[in-house]
This record gives sequence, C-alpha cells and structure tokens, in this order.
Amino acid sequence: MSNFEFNFGNENVLSEQIIQQALYLREQLRHHNHCYYVLDNPQISDAQYDILFRQLLQLEKDYPQLQNPDSPTQKVGGEALSAFNSIEHRIPMLSLGNVFSQDELNDFERKIKERLETSSDIEYCAELKLDGLAISLIYENGLFKQGATRGDGTTGEDISHNLKTIRNLPLQLNTLTPPAILEVRGEVLMPKAGFHKLNAEAQQKGEKIFANPRNAAAGSVRQLDPKIAAQRPLAFYAYAVAQIDGQELPKTQYEVLQWLKSLGFTISDQIQTGIGAKFAAQFFAQIQQQRSQLPYDIDGVVIKVNELAKQQRLGIVSREPRWATAYKFPAELASTMLEAVDFQVGRTGALTPVARVKPVFVGGVTISNITLHNMDEIKRLDLAIGDTIEVCRAGDVIPKVTQVLHKAEQSQVITLPSQCPVCQSAIVQDEKGVIARCSGDFYCEAQVQRRLAHFVSRKAMNIDGLGERWLEQFLEIGLISNIADLYALTKEKILAKNIEGMGERLAEKIVNAIEQSKTTTLPRFIYALGIRGVGESTALALAQHFASLEAIQQATEETLKQVPDIGEVSAKWIVAYFQEPIHQQMIAKMQAAGVNWPAIEQRGTQPLTGQIWVLTGSLTAMGRDEAKTKLQQLGAKVSGSVSKKTTIVVAGAEAGSKLADAQKLGVTVWDEQQLIALLQEHQA
Ligand code: IVH
Repeated sequence: MSNFEFNFGNENVLSEQIIQQALYLREQLRHHNHCYYVLDNPQISDAQYDILFRQLLQLEKDYPQLQNPDSPTQKVGGEALSAFNSIEHRIPMLSLGNVFSQDELNDFERKIKERLETSSDIEYCAELKLDGLAISLIYENGLFKQGATRGDGTTGEDISHNLKTIRNLPLQLNTLTPPAILEVRGEVLMPKAGFHKLNAEAQQKGEKIFANPRNAAAGSVRQLDPKIAAQRPLAFYAYAVAQIDGQELPKTQYEVLQWLKSLGFTISDQIQTGIGAKFAAQFFAQIQQQRSQLPYDIDGVVIKVNELAKQQRLGIVSREPRWATAYKFPAELASTMLEAVDFQVGRTGALTPVARVKPVFVGGVTISNITLHNMDEIKRLDLAIGDTIEVCRAGDVIPKVTQVLHKAEQSQVITLPSQCPVCQSAIVQDEKGVIARCSGDFYCEAQVQRRLAHFVSRKAMNIDGLGERWLEQFLEIGLISNIADLYALTKEKILAKNIEGMGERLAEKIVNAIEQSKTTTLPRFIYALGIRGVGESTALALAQHFASLEAIQQATEETLKQVPDIGEVSAKWIVAYFQEPIHQQMIAKMQAAGVNWPAIEQRGTQPLTGQIWVLTGSLTAMGRDEAKTKLQQLGAKVSGSVSKKTTIVVAGAEAGSKLADAQKLGVTVWDEQQLIALLQEHQA
C-alpha cells in the first residue's frame, strides 16, 4: 500500500474515541512510571502495568498515525543502530578529586576556605557516589533530544536510542514551562536486585554473566540493538545540571536536585546538607554503614559546596571542580600471599581450615587470618600454600578468599591432618565427607574451651566479662573443666590462683555475672548447652514443644521429629547428648547450683503452625533475626531457601535471587508492611 492510498477498513480509521484512548493510556503509563521510579510508590502491579503498555503498543500498531517519539512505548526498542555517533560535550564532563581520610577531607575544606578568603563555615550538599556510568542528557523545550556517554570528557557517544528505553528516564519534562535547553548529568546504573536476576537468567540460558552491576549497566547502554537495553533493568539517577537556557537555576545544589525531581527525574533519596568537614565525615560514616543495604552499588560519597555562586567562584582545576570531592570507600579487593593453613577445632569438634596470609590492608583493616570454611572450599578455589590470592572484605562482612591470582611455582598442597592438632585424637569425616571432626570430645581442650565460650556468649547464658582469654587460663590451671564448674566459682577461688591481671574487682564482676546468669529462660539454656544441630531457633522450638527440660531429656527420636525444624539427624544428636552421663551430671549440677527459668506454657497448634516462611532482602523496621523469632513464636518454620512448599516469601529492600525464585514458583510474596500487620494482629 503506497502512502497515497487510504484504507477504508474500520480498524485503521482514526476516531476521536481511539485518540482519546491513546492519550489516556500514555498519561496513565507516564503517571505509573513516575509513581514507581520517582515517588518509590507504585500504585499498580508490574503485570497491570504491562497490560496498559501492551494496549498502547497494540493501538499504535493498528493506527500508525498515532505513533509519536514521545510515547512511553518508545522506551522499548526500535531498529538496530548501525554505529554510535560522536557527540562533543558543550560543557566538558569533569572528573572528581578523591579523599580517603578525615585528614584529606579537612585539607579539601581548608583549600576552599583559603580560595573563598573566608573563615566562616561552609555548607555542603552530601550525596552518594553512584557506581554506574556518567551520562549527559539534553532536553529541548522539555523534550528529550539526545543522550551521550562521558567518553573522554570532551567527546562522548550518542546512545540516545538505548537511553530512551530506560523506564525512569523522562522523555518529556514534567513542567508547563520547560527551559529552552536543559542539560542534565547523572548516572545510569543497574540496581543490585535486577542485576542478580539478570545474571541468574543468563546462567540458566548459558549466556554471559556480568561481573558486577556497573559492567552490566555499561554493557547494556553500549549495545547496538536498543531492544537489548530495553530488557535490562536500568535506571537513571540525576545529580547535576550542566547548562540551562532561558531560565534561572535555584541557588543551591540541594535545590537543583529537588527541582530535577519535580521535573520527573529520579534522584537518590540519600542526600543531605550540613555544615563543615565534620558533617561530611559523619555522612560518610553513616552511608558506609548502610552501604550493603542500598539497592544499588556505590563507591563512596560526593561532597559538594552547596551554594552555586560559591561553586562558580571556586572554579575548576585540571578537569576537576575545586568545589566537590569524592570521599571514597577503601578498596575491597587486595592481593596477598597464602603463607600457611591451620586447622581450628570448633565446639562440636569440626575442623575449620584458616588461611594465614601475609598481612594486607583491605576494606579499611589489616587482615592476616581468613576462614576457609572446609576442605571443599580449598578444593573449589584450588588453593595451595605459596599462591598469590585475591582477598575481599566488603563493609563489616568477614573477609574471604575469592580466587587464586597466581599459582606459585613450588606450591605446597593443603592436606587435612589425620590427628587433632590440639589433642591428637583421630580425625573422622562426616557422611558427606565435607566436615572433618576431632573425635576427642571431652578430652579435647579446644572443644571444651569452645563449648565454654559458646555457653557464656550473649545469645546463650550471657555471662559478661568472661572472655576467651580468661576461659583459656581457667581451663589451663584447672579452675574449671566444664560449663557446670562455672557455677562453683567464687571470688576467693579465683583470687587464690594468683592469675596475672586478675584483680579483686574483675573477679567480683565475673562472679556476679555468673550469678546473674542463673536466672535464664529454657530456650537460652538449651541453646547454651551447645548440642549439635541445636541453634537458637531449634532451642526455641524444643522449649515450646516440650515445655520442660525433663520432657526434652526424655524425648525419643520419634517425638523429637514432631517438632518443626528437627529432622532425623538432629533428633539422633539430641537423644545422644542427653543419654551421655557426663551431660546428665552437668545439667543436674547446674540446676542444683540454682540455674532456673520460668515455666513456659506448652504450645498447641499456633496460628502459623505448618507454614514455611522465607525472609529475604533487608527488613528495615525490625531486622531479619527479630522477624524470624517472631514468626517462629507463631509456629512457623523459617527456611533459608524457597521451594514449592514455601507458604510466603517476605521480600525486603534489595531482595535478590530468592524473590526471583518465589516469582518463578508462584509463591506468595509479601512486603515488610504486610508482615508487620500480621505480627501486630497476633501481637507477636
Ligand atoms: S558530580 C563536577 N555527583 O563520579 C562534578 N558525580 O569522577 C561531576 N558520580 O563518573 C560529577 N555519583 O559519574 C557527581 N552524586 C554524584 C556522583 C558522581 C557518581 C560519578 C560521575 C563520574 C565520577 C566523577
């Protein structure tokens, strides 16, 4: 059909009704994009959004006259790009200077004051340093015209077609009076949840896995075919205006950001203003704490002089503004040498290989010991002594060995010892061959000491002041030999041993703490015993099911298996523990010394009995541990993985693969608010 022929078939005649329907759908889609990305408050589900989207797509297909570059459907692919055009940035895209310490930050401030010839306090706008790709966007009369990468700062690449597919990037500014020209700068990134989902899907399909969200974002916007970018979970966060024609900007960086938000841009919700380098350092510390819970990767914070007039006066030096700096997190990856592997004996006798490495500064601390968990981990990493290894320590997370960077020419193979390094008893492997244990039990000092440390720990009997150092000495000089002996300690007995560093005050503190621990709860006491397979939640389940210690002591494997959380193996371990005469004597001794707990009601069927819950992502109101305990108190089993049997998955911020699993398996997903409502209903 040529352009000059008309089709008089009903479907292609544009009626007023069809035009209105298309306008309505466009407005709805823009509104829901805004709710989702800018207000963080979606009003419809993704599925409902998709229905609206497809309706509009169909209309525009049926009536090509309706097609318009500003339609929300244009955010999804078009034809392939043949190549990227170069774009000259009218205003260069700068880089940022770095600081890594409070001292360097103070220096940054001192220079600002010198240049401004002032001794008054400086107000800063503190932002996140988003770890994505710097992008520049040009809007003409409120309409998106062009978007480019940073490139070398002077010349970038035109990636408009890909940028147009980003759902939270406005194609039209949300204002009746747009400036003639507006150039907005910001970062394109891939939120962590989307990144994990993308990688999980790629893995299933045997496709390329991205190393990190930054690479995934970069790889996505530099695709020739915009259909690919359209399928990637990308987001744009605005952080600056580079040029504006025909209008005045607000007076401060903070107000500029709020103005950008009102135009429809997403800005980070972690932006603060405050006075002086001290404020900036506090912001840095606060964000460092929150880092792992943020929905996207950041590599530091950016501290900017808030007042634009002052920024102007400070100017630029060697392509870096003098009015801003990046306060960066310390590197989280480092390389070092594996010098030796020692085996530590845990309270159940399990041997844990520990890597002794050449001390290395990583994630802000010096590390020389790293747990390797088990022999399988050593095999997986193909580790040998002498190898150069990569070490990772992110935030407060325990350090780990991530890979071998370079194999030593004469490396030494790591082997499991055949005898316990502490008591020389034989080492035995568990059925699966993953865990190796010392068979020494009561004869192994290491096991006894670890059990004592567990017994006094905060979540167990909470005996404050009795750290590992004292426990080790008390054991060595024969003041105690098991947990029950703690209750026979007196100040006089401790002092009589003349232990170095142990004075009257300290001895008194320890004895008081032991005395206080006598009043406890049954779940705590059971947990404190350190029975294999009985963690905090199993201890609670046992206490609630049997209601008394005597009942637990007499339980059989069969009755134990009726308790949620307890399977064949732990039932065997529990029975074996209580059958051991030494354990029976210790428990009797502690009860005779006055260890007691309030009676607890035996719980019958509870509101969530038989249900299996999974918690994922970060729960802001109460934390995962607390939520878990509360759900268990209502009778639910809380599991670490999603299966068809899962009743409900509660997805907090930054939920990753478990949320994806739930969606795949059709398991009900709740948000934190729904969980809180349920707990309130049951007053848990
Ligand atoms: S301002 C003149 N603000 O950091 C100031 N940059 O080296 C220029 N970045 O790749 C940038 N978050 O993309 C600014 N809140 C933020 C930022 C930020 C991340 C990136 C930027 C560039 C690098 C600067």
